[in-house]
Order: sequence, then C-alpha cells, then structure tokens
Amino acid sequence: MYDFKPDAALDPAETHRQLVEAADALTSGEPDGIANMANIAALIREFLPDLNWAGFYRVAPMRDGAGNELVLGPFVGRPACIRIPFGAGVCGTAAQSQTTQLVEDVHAFPGHIACDSASRSELVVPVLRDGAVIAVIDCDSPSPARFTAADAAGIEALAALLSTRI
Ligand code: SME
Repeated sequence: MYDFKPDAALDPAETHRQLVEAADALTSGEPDGIANMANIAALIREFLPDLNWAGFYRVAPMRDGAGNELVLGPFVGRPACIRIPFGAGVCGTAAQSQTTQLVEDVHAFPGHIACDSASRSELVVPVLRDGAVIAVIDCDSPSPARFTAADAAGIEALAALLSTRI
C-alpha cells in the first residue's frame, strides 16, 4: 500500500516540496508514463486541498494526422473534454506559449473551456522535454483565486521531475 499524505497544516511551499518528493518516490524506476501520470493525478488530489479536477493533457496526433493537439490523459475528477487545440482555452494557451497559466477567475479568461461547471480557478503548467511541450498538468478548483505563486512554482517543479517520466 502506498500511503503518501502531506503532514497537516503545512505552508504551501512545504506541501509542494513533499508532493514532489512523493512523486519522485512513486515514479522512480517506473518507465510506464500512463501509470506515472495516473498516480501523479491521484497524488495531487491527496496533497492539494480544494480541487475538483487534476490531471494531464498529452501532446498527441490529431485524428486526421494534420499535426498535434492536446489529448486527455489520466486524471481525477469529472469526465472532461478529450481534445484541445493548441492555443485554445487555458490548457491550449499553456501548451502553445510553454508558460504556466494561473487563472484566478476562469470566467474572465477568454476562450476558457468549461469541462466542469464547478471550476472557478485553474492552474495549468506545461511539461517540457528537450525544449518541446509534451503535456500539461491541469489543476481546477471550485474556489475563485485558489492558486498562488507558490502553487505555480510547486507544480512547475513537479513538471520538471516528470519531464522524462511520462
Ligand atoms: N478548462 C480547461 C479545459 C480542461 S478542463 O478544465 C479539465 C481549459 O480551458 O483549457
């Protein structure tokens, strides 16, 4: 049994340090990227309170083969939209720009894609390998302005760890 739990009442930076440590332990030596993404999605929910969705979109071929787009990967939460073009919504913006998107109010984000109407704020971090985006990590919360700079830095550290593990 895996029993990765954050210590109670940690400050956000320490919570994220422990999240990355647990992610390292869970994925170290495991070459199956789907298994690793599934466990990391579950781990994010264990460590970060007040989320309604956490998981991955992967860069994968479009159905007609005319390039790549984001395709739903392992996640925890309600069923979500499957394919997101680069540049669309918060996830597509993070993938296209290769930059973290910290959105305090999703209703104010032009083109936001509402997969779960309960979502009010969102944090999306690209996962890069050799300078190219290979996936994004998406965290949604039902609370406005749930995510802080500490959350962004923490999920960026997680994305760096996962660069060669998913
Ligand atoms: N809201 C995202 C879509 C993915 S769901 O939140 C799981 C977006 O605007 O890209």
